[in-house]
Amino acid sequence: MRHHPARLNQHKRDGGAWSDEEIDDIVRGVVDGSLGDGQLGALLMAVCCRGMSARETARLTLAMRDSGRVLELGGIPGRKVDKHSTGGVGDKVSLCLAPLVAACGVPVPMISGRGLGHTGGTIDKLAAIPGYRTDLEPDDFVAVLRDCGFAMAGASAAIAPADRRMYAMRDVSGTVESIPLITASILSKKLAEGIDGLVMDVKCGRAAFMKELEQARALAQSLVSVGTAAGVRVTALLTDMDRPLGRAIGNHLEVLEAVQVLKGQGPADLNELTLALGVEMLLLAGETDAARARARLTRAIADGSALECLRRNVVRQDGDPRFLDEPKALGSAPVHLGVASPSEGHVVDVDPLALGLCAMDLGAGRLQPSDRVDPLVGILMLVERGARVTRGQPLAMVFARTQAAAMAALERVLAAIRIGSEAPPERPLVLARIGA
Ligand code: URA
Repeated sequence: MRHHPARLNQHKRDGGAWSDEEIDDIVRGVVDGSLGDGQLGALLMAVCCRGMSARETARLTLAMRDSGRVLELGGIPGRKVDKHSTGGVGDKVSLCLAPLVAACGVPVPMISGRGLGHTGGTIDKLAAIPGYRTDLEPDDFVAVLRDCGFAMAGASAAIAPADRRMYAMRDVSGTVESIPLITASILSKKLAEGIDGLVMDVKCGRAAFMKELEQARALAQSLVSVGTAAGVRVTALLTDMDRPLGRAIGNHLEVLEAVQVLKGQGPADLNELTLALGVEMLLLAGETDAARARARLTRAIADGSALECLRRNVVRQDGDPRFLDEPKALGSAPVHLGVASPSEGHVVDVDPLALGLCAMDLGAGRLQPSDRVDPLVGILMLVERGARVTRGQPLAMVFARTQAAAMAALERVLAAIRIGSEAPPERPLVLARIGA
């Protein structure tokens, strides 16, 4: 490195700002290892405590993007648009949204992540489809995008390698929750996809990174302004993560629920969010009227073209497409246990964080980065917030590997669902929209 790491850290620790040249040097040091682990940990903590200006955040984002390969999608006609969620429980929107938007003629290059803590990841959900390959190298990824209208893969080592090291270090140094670092981490990978537009689903609530609306709004604003400065049109929706999204939590259950959306049979909240995000994606792709965008999306579900688009992609990425017609083709967990309502009344709360942690402990997520995810376990809610229930009525099903794991989960699921005498007030799913 041309600059002394300790001096750079002291400068930030004392509230200073880094020059563009210093930021480029830091990212070089991250990639070539000349910035040691201790120095990087201290640097991330200094950013966490002192923050970064909009200029510094934008420069860091671009330097991280340019630390690896940037896809060249100029040969594929049309504006390329992607969606990214900051992570939640039951969030399988990407699985149905990508084929839906692609069926409307908009190419969707989607590079996604694995689950993080209690939040699920698209790559883990796709791994529940036998044979489906998510390890596409950049040239393969572009070829699938050209053939199917969308491609879904994990970030290869060629994409934003600076983020790999920084993310791993943030995870173990308690420096994940920093708006400039989250912005640079997400956008560096998304900008490397060579997209023209990005819709951000910024989750807000108990099971989200951002618990409070004001924090979520600040993150959305940062993502919109840095993305726009980098030449990509970005729109953000702030959406509720004080409830699980849809009814399924767990990888194979979530794949099946996403297919239900494409068959016009998904749960109302998941259908609604998929359409709301899809409208934003079509608007970024050049559609000028939101009502027309919604009608195009609804038609692609009704005429089956969105489902066919997913089928083409599953086959093209070496997956077995039988589950699209026959849900049992994905297999099933050995133990199924129903959770009965202890009393009569209304479901006044379903705690998404408690359910996400429970699903993770059943094996749907990881405690350690090296853990294997069990695709078949999870929780299927049978009622939603607001529903009227009778005593003994099944509220949820637990899918587990063993009877003991199922029994332990049953207690936790029961504790996560609150039954009261009054119906709870309606709560909107989309809390705010932030555009450039
Ligand atoms: N997702 C990312 O890719 N990076 C973050 O920092 C947070 C969520």
